[in-house]
Amino acid sequence: MISASKILHNYLGPVFGILLVVLLLKLLKDNIPKKHDLQWFKMGGGLVGKGHPDAGFANGGGKAWYWLLATVGLLVVASGFVLDFPNYGQSRDTMQWANIIHAVGALGLTAVALGHIYIGTVGTAGSLEGMTTGYVDESWAKEHHNLWYEEVKDQAMSEEELAAQKTESSGATKPS
Ligand code: HEM
Repeated sequence: MISASKILHNYLGPVFGILLVVLLLKLLKDNIPKKHDLQWFKMGGGLVGKGHPDAGFANGGGKAWYWLLATVGLLVVASGFVLDFPNYGQSRDTMQWANIIHAVGALGLTAVALGHIYIGTVGTAGSLEGMTTGYVDESWAKEHHNLWYEEVKDQAMSEEELAAQKTESSGATKPS
């Protein structure tokens, strides 16, 4: 099982690397650091002081996770390629450095990912629903992503409109 996992990892690693780059490019414009993100960190994302700090589509913590993936994540991908293709004449020293960078980076990201998955699912009421349905409650958006809410509030729809849209997209016909 271990050797099968290793071989699978050798082939799936490059796929992960390509998809990571696609994802980073897709999310770039929502993750440019802004002044209000500093306030988000000062308030511990809302844990310190009163109320929720300002946040756009991504909050300060989300942006920190994005940039960690854009730096350490790409290092893991680059070192993975060095390990995957030892046939380009790289020295034993280079291979050993690639191995250390890869293992430390990968395990560090895995540890942060566990915390991130917790916050994104059971840790914050409403966020799992947002990911599975593609929609969030207006009051949730106002509370957690107020600046983003201001940008998109004219696209808000009622529960009835949403239900009607779902019926249409599922191909079900309306009773005549
Ligand atoms: C989040 C993603 C990844 C994780 C968690 C991860 C994790 C690991 C770990 C823990 C090792 C063992 C390191 C050691 O021997 O001490 C390893 C080895 C390796 N990884 Fe990754 N890795 C990831 C992504 C990638 C990518 C993107 C590639 C290729 C582009 C890749 C290619 C390799 C290769 C070739 C090895 C060496 C396997 C061998 O011993 O022959 N990995 N990886």
